[in-house]
Amino acid sequence: MWIGYKILIVSHLITEIWAEKQYLPQREVDPGADFTRNHTVLEGTRFKRAIYKGQYCRSFGCCEDRDDGCVTQFYEMNALCYCDKFCERENSDCCPDYKSFCHGEKEWLPHTKPWYPEGCLRDGQHYEEGSVIKENCNSCTCSGQQWKCSQHVCLVEPELIDHVNKGDYGWTAQNYSQFWGMTLEEGFKYRLGTLPPSPMLLSMNEVTVSVFSV
Ligand SMILES: *[C@@H]1O[C@H](CO)[C@@H](O)[C@H](O)[C@H]1NC(C)=O
Ligand SMILES: *[C@@H]1O[C@H](CO)[C@@H](O)[C@H](O)[C@H]1NC(C)=O
Repeated sequence: MWIGYKILIVSHLITEIWAEKQYLPQREVDPGADFTRNHTVLEGTRFKRAIYKGQYCRSFGCCEDRDDGCVTQFYEMNALCYCDKFCERENSDCCPDYKSFCHGEKEWLPHTKPWYPEGCLRDGQHYEEGSVIKENCNSCTCSGQQWKCSQHVCLVEPELIDHVNKGDYGWTAQNYSQFWGMTLEEGFKYRLGTLPPSPMLLSMNEVTVSVFSV
């Protein structure tokens, strides 16, 4: 039983070290940095939650004494949690796996920064750093593991269509595919009414014509 446990720990350490080798060298990520759009925030958080699966101290180690840097995002609660000894207080701010991991095993892992894989996610697909995708009328670049999107207002906004169709306005809106991907500004410029008349046309005067019958 104990041997099995040890093997588990060793294999976990190997995976851990391997993962760090893979991901650590290029990175210095601030997990609290602002994402530009809400869905990317959700996607990013969900992705990180999927990585951690409740493993916090287990993912980056335990710390002796008080170490305010021994902290990670507690994604389930949208808060921070600690893996240092100091977190064991009356108002514990320990990570959920602090007791089981930091106390359960004598060989503590050295504390390292949490890691995230390179690149960005979108609809479950992985994109390399620097990838550019189009999202409706905005383009988004994967930079520092976040999508940074331009912030144009689009001519077709799904949220607005939704809003109109949920309300009782006596009419419904729909997605006009031909306008998808255009900005509101382009709509104003190219799709509204007619072009202004030319100066020559504007400078014309009216002509009065009298007709005489003979
Ligand atoms: C994004 O989230 C913030 C805070 O949760 C909210 O105030 C804002 O309206 C959201 N924006 C969109 C476009 O949903
Ligand atoms: C609207 O139409 C475009 C083009 O056909 C499509 O790509 C987009 O997903 C549609 N959006 C919604 C919210 O249905």
